[in-house]
Amino acid sequence: MTTQEPLLRVRNLRTHFTSKLGVAKAVDGVSFDVFPGETLGLVGESGSGKSVTCLSVVRLVPQPSGRIVEGEVLLGGKDLLTLSDNEMRDIRGSRVAYITQDPLTSLDPLFRVGNQVGEPMLAHGRANRKDVRGKVVDMLRRVRIPAPEIRATQFPHEMSGGMRQRVVAALALGCRPELLIADEPTTALDVTVQAQILRLLRDLQEESGLSMILVTHDFGIVARACDRVAVMYAGRIVEISPVTDIFERPAHPYTIGLMASVPKIGIKSEHMPSIEGQPPDVRRIPPGCPFAPRCTARQDRCTVEYPPTIKLRDQHEVACWAVDPVTGVPAGVAVAE
Ligand SMILES: Nc1ncnc2c1ncn2[C@@H]1O[C@H](COP(=O)(O)OP(=O)(O)O)[C@@H](O)[C@H]1O
Ligand code: SF4
Ligand SMILES: [Mg+2]
Repeated sequence: MTTQEPLLRVRNLRTHFTSKLGVAKAVDGVSFDVFPGETLGLVGESGSGKSVTCLSVVRLVPQPSGRIVEGEVLLGGKDLLTLSDNEMRDIRGSRVAYITQDPLTSLDPLFRVGNQVGEPMLAHGRANRKDVRGKVVDMLRRVRIPAPEIRATQFPHEMSGGMRQRVVAALALGCRPELLIADEPTTALDVTVQAQILRLLRDLQEESGLSMILVTHDFGIVARACDRVAVMYAGRIVEISPVTDIFERPAHPYTIGLMASVPKIGIKSEHMPSIEGQPPDVRRIPPGCPFAPRCTARQDRCTVEYPPTIKLRDQHEVACWAVDPVTGVPAGVAVAE
């Protein structure tokens, strides 16, 4: 994977929201790569900047309060932030697809699902009036919707939540994008359907070589569905690593805390450890490391200066003053076996 050129290269991305209450630094200097055919997980508590990172990549940050103030978003070497609105509209839906947890925001209740899945295919020249119906049915079949000919004629309200999310996947993937950005695509679904949708995304990825950014607040999903993971806190990536390595040797105290909160078989959720305290308000980020008020490994310099990013092993990087660059272990944190 490391020898390949990345499909997506995000560099020093900063997206801020301005209001009477001040400037919210929702994304504040984020850099990462997504390689062809891989899934990068973005994980972190609510408000850490996961969605705003994704919205920035597809240039759908809510206007006018939100603004990308700095950075580069290179897709196949071309900076999407320099494109015109028309050029960007063409990229969205054809080369990059974006889906959210709420299929109802992606589907129009007034139109039959077949017409909705076909619309972007027609708009981006992937189908014509004659062959669109066949291509829609084919796509619905690929997302494992039973009786696709009949389903194509139905309205969204005639389908279950899981079925609707399959339709959204068909809509997103109909134009054969290179990158799928899925922002908590299974959060609204029950556990069984969640597993089916994750399996489906994995299968579709294997069939087509698609790259994926998968946002989740759940390390269990990271373990099942991702190749690498970036852990976000207060608008920054605090640790990024291949999934296998981070599960074996997590380095950042925040990552260790998040992983300790993953439900384990035989442990009731009320007995699960969780990280004390709340994430900071991104309008008032204190100097130094924003995790400091909650961190058991905190040192004096932590509240003075933000830690530099250090490389631990192949593709595993962390930003924390307490982490020993040789052993990758943070001083003062008990790592659970
Ligand atoms: N539309 C918005 N207007 C103002 N601030 C916003 C808006 N959307 C997000 N933010 C700010 O950005 C922060 C990060 O949000 P978000 O990326 O949605 O978090 P996550 O997806 O990790 O839960 C929020 O805590 C909030 O302060
Ligand atoms: S040890 Fe310091 S730098 Fe590392 S997470 Fe804790 S407060 Fe942040
Ligand atoms: Mg979000």
